[in-house]
Amino acid sequence: MDNNSEKIERRTEEDGVIFMSIKNEDDTVNVSSDKDITILAIESSCDETAAAVVRNGREVLSNVISSQIALHTIYGGVVPEIASRKHVEKINGCVRAALSEAGLTLEDIDVIAVTYGPGLVGALLVGVSEAKALSFVTGKPLVGVHHIEGHICANYIEDKNLKPPFMCLVASGGHSHLVYVKDYGEYDIIGQTRDDAAGEAFDKVARAIGLGYPGGPKVDAAARQGNPDAINFPRAKTTEKSYDFSFSGLKSAVLNYLNQAEMKGEEVNKNDVAASFQKAVVDVLTEHTMEAAKEYGCKKIAIAGGVASNTSLRERLQSECEKQGIAFYRPSPVLCTDNAAMIGAAAYYAYKKGIVADLTLNAVAVETLYNE
Ligand code: KG4
Ligand code: ZN
Repeated sequence: MDNNSEKIERRTEEDGVIFMSIKNEDDTVNVSSDKDITILAIESSCDETAAAVVRNGREVLSNVISSQIALHTIYGGVVPEIASRKHVEKINGCVRAALSEAGLTLEDIDVIAVTYGPGLVGALLVGVSEAKALSFVTGKPLVGVHHIEGHICANYIEDKNLKPPFMCLVASGGHSHLVYVKDYGEYDIIGQTRDDAAGEAFDKVARAIGLGYPGGPKVDAAARQGNPDAINFPRAKTTEKSYDFSFSGLKSAVLNYLNQAEMKGEEVNKNDVAASFQKAVVDVLTEHTMEAAKEYGCKKIAIAGGVASNTSLRERLQSECEKQGIAFYRPSPVLCTDNAAMIGAAAYYAYKKGIVADLTLNAVAVETLYNE
């Protein structure tokens, strides 16, 4: 274990918190509650270089995203080494643009925030190094933010009145988590994927039916032209009473269906495959989320992560929540996929609790670090 890991506040799963911002035990800060806090936030965990300025956790003054999607499309997925190099090229420009769009200079910033993990380690390191350099030269405090916590906090930006507790479904390319948000910065992870993340399944199925990368939005669009009841793909059940997910069986079922059709020389209706696959994913995500909200007595459900921009998932959860008298929160699509505004929102609540990092802050690739 390196020095930095020792500085990560550790709690066990029993304590209910298994991811959180980085805390430097010797250097917590007292934050006066009435002063405005303006945060410059940086995100570079995967294929978006992003910088944003966020005031008091909820007000976005700028949200700059430089997407590398076009670059990775030719390879059919994100190439980590290319992503890191592109982040190096883009990061200074994104930070400058975020400040100038907000009409501010570095002097107006109170806190520098950055995603430290999980993600591609080489990509994360670019943002972490940038944030540490900015913190060092300006003397402003540094806050390290967990990427999934950032996704959840996108909901605070979208709905200024949302307060914990609530149930949050986080579904993205790398994660599928069901999280009970007990309070700001306090989380119970009550379910997660045992294999592929939901977004990963979307991307792999899209590739198999020839829709290309990134798969989620393309499957979403194709599904609108197809029949969701055309093919009965399996809905994975993990053990009874578990909120865990499993999507690799579903992905294999789609691949088998395509292979068999090819062997028989039958033509496949891609839109029907997309719609039936999407329905299977949405059914499972919706059922688990609704059951969890019921068990925890939640009157609020939120969604987060790239897959949260899926039209069908948003409609299904909206309608189930209406039926059950539950308030439904979903960030606009630009706040669902990776962005730095959500990192600024998460950093605000961490900073208010006096959680800051020092210059030993390091990139962490694997999220399960906190479960050990
Ligand atoms: O949150 P995100 O931008 O990055 C990660 O943290 O992983 O999520 C990206 C994922 C990709 O797998 C992408 O295919 C998926 O979100 N996605 C969607 C949609 N838009 C993006 N999946 C389903 N439907 C969509 N409309
Ligand atoms: Zn993400």
